[in-house]
Amino acid sequence: MSVWDQFNLKNRIAIITGGATGLGKAMGQGLAEAGANLVIADINYNLAKQTANEFEMNTGNKAIACKVDVTNIDDVETMVQDVLNEFGHIDILFNNAGINEHIKFEDMPYDRWLKNMDVNINSMVLVSQAVGKVMIQQQKGTIINTSSMSGIIVNTPQPQAAYNTSKGAVIMFTKSLASEWAKHGIRVNTIAPGYMKTELTKDYFAQGGDMIDTWMKFTPLGRPGVPEELQGAALYLASDASSFVTGSVITIDGGYTAL
Ligand SMILES: NC(=O)c1ccc[n+]([C@@H]2O[C@H](COP(=O)([O-])OP(=O)(O)OC[C@H]3O[C@@H](n4cnc5c(N)ncnc54)[C@H](O)[C@@H]3O)[C@@H](O)[C@H]2O)c1
Repeated sequence: MSVWDQFNLKNRIAIITGGATGLGKAMGQGLAEAGANLVIADINYNLAKQTANEFEMNTGNKAIACKVDVTNIDDVETMVQDVLNEFGHIDILFNNAGINEHIKFEDMPYDRWLKNMDVNINSMVLVSQAVGKVMIQQQKGTIINTSSMSGIIVNTPQPQAAYNTSKGAVIMFTKSLASEWAKHGIRVNTIAPGYMKTELTKDYFAQGGDMIDTWMKFTPLGRPGVPEELQGAALYLASDASSFVTGSVITIDGGYTAL
């Protein structure tokens, strides 16, 4: 198999949660360009539908939208059934939906803590279990979880203990699942992006000020990443090019965690 063939995703089915916009959309676009058929699973159905239509127009591959709150088990199970009805199999699961809130820990209402945990890590439990049952039957599949450099280091100056904790959990969840499911032919890896310009962060970059100056001071490349800069790693982990890679964390952070 040539090196280019290793990256070919023709006829593969990929579910990407939080794929309607931001990093998920860019990484989904990369997978679609490599040949995958996409399922855009997002709580924002209208945007997911728009994104799926764009993917179909740009690549000629099939893309469908599913309205899914990844914290809701009924939504997740319905999505898996819908995907099986449409495509018959699932090759790639990208657990990417996430939220972030800057709240001082002493002021953090417990329900906000739980919300961060639910969207950022507990959702991965629900979706990975539901899709994992299909992959175990297939004895084949690859799962990619979006963590963050915040799962490795503590960001400064903003207070975001819940986010950091949830993203640290994503890394250990990834390693645990990689270990348990290797015998089923399922690989599980995670990417840990640094500061990227998306809907999640665009207001902070627009405001500028001390926080942004600090972020950039600690980023050796001196700028935020753009979503397209995650496409290569996403495609690598989704494809046969990474067939001997499982339980790994790939940091894509402009050098932030090197300091
Ligand atoms: N932007 C960054 O700098 C950065 C850095 C590191 C990691 N990340 C992580 O990357 C992932 C994507 O971030 P982004 O910047 O693209 O965010 P974003 O806000 O631009 O997009 C997030 C997407 O997730 C969807 N979503 C939110 N809650 C959902 C739910 N309960 N169910 C289904 N979909 C839901 C939103 O509708 C949206 O389409 C997140 O896990 C985030 O923590 C982002």
